[in-house]
Amino acid sequence: MTLTEWGIKPALPMSDEQFELWQALVEVRIGITVTPSRRSFLEISLSTRMREIGLDDYETYYERLMSGPASSPEWILLTDRLTVQETSFFRHQSSFKLVEEHLKELIKDNGRHSINIWSAGCSSGEEAYSLAMLTDSLVEERGRKDVFYGVTATDISLPTLIKARQGIFAERRGATVPEGFRLKYMHQMPNHKDWQMNDAIRKRVAFSQLNLMDLERAPFSEMDVIFCQNVLIYFRRFRKRDVVTQLANRLAKGGILVLGLGEIVDWSHPQLERIDYPDTLAFKRVS
Ligand SMILES: C[S@@+](CC[C@H](N)C(=O)[O-])C[C@H]1O[C@@H](n2cnc3c(N)ncnc32)[C@H](O)[C@@H]1O
Repeated sequence: MTLTEWGIKPALPMSDEQFELWQALVEVRIGITVTPSRRSFLEISLSTRMREIGLDDYETYYERLMSGPASSPEWILLTDRLTVQETSFFRHQSSFKLVEEHLKELIKDNGRHSINIWSAGCSSGEEAYSLAMLTDSLVEERGRKDVFYGVTATDISLPTLIKARQGIFAERRGATVPEGFRLKYMHQMPNHKDWQMNDAIRKRVAFSQLNLMDLERAPFSEMDVIFCQNVLIYFRRFRKRDVVTQLANRLAKGGILVLGLGEIVDWSHPQLERIDYPDTLAFKRVS
């Protein structure tokens, strides 16, 4: 049976010229590069959206988006469709282990009264809540009620942030949180299936929209931990380096930047040193 016989409409064909135009628009506004191997993903995403709004040619849709700002509701919706939101709690264990050791050191210092953490490209919140649960447990373990901590969680996708703020996760997803953390920091919803983060943890995480392409306008600094994983994989090398340098500039002295393994190569910063920790890609601000 063909797709049409199944009632599935194929994506509208896109000329090479159209592909180049869309590719440039997506890269300038979001940073991600749609390689020729992901062309069909672009065609399907755009065709689906165009059908929803009654358009059947790429030019008209392109004109419509170009005539409005990047903050237009249509662009916000399309951005959500063009980005990959896959995530999970405590996704990369070695990175979380490294953060745990770093936090323990910070909390040991009786002169320290605040810890600032940033999850950049936080998707639906699992990464940010994992960082908050981990920090909370360590602060409590050490009896440091005098330490204030907060997690800033940013993403380009507004619909994803709305979901993240609610802190509600399906049964299967909740089940992936280590039991000790789940029982302490989450509760089951009245449907006895979904899990929600407790208010005490939700209050520790501040979600806001931020495009990593506009980092110079972000009012963040003096971060003790910056976590940015699985976001820059579709960025071109020079953009990646720009973003990582800007993130590095937001670190406090002694702060750490934790990236995804292999996400950047041949990058260095005069004030940062690579942290030698197994199965991780992380840097520390030494001056
Ligand atoms: C695959 S998820 C990764 C989530 C989480 N960091 C993790 O590792 O599980 C990538 C996230 O990056 C966001 N993203 C993509 N381009 C972005 C940009 N230019 N600025 C900010 N966030 C972006 C997407 O919206 C998506 O939520």
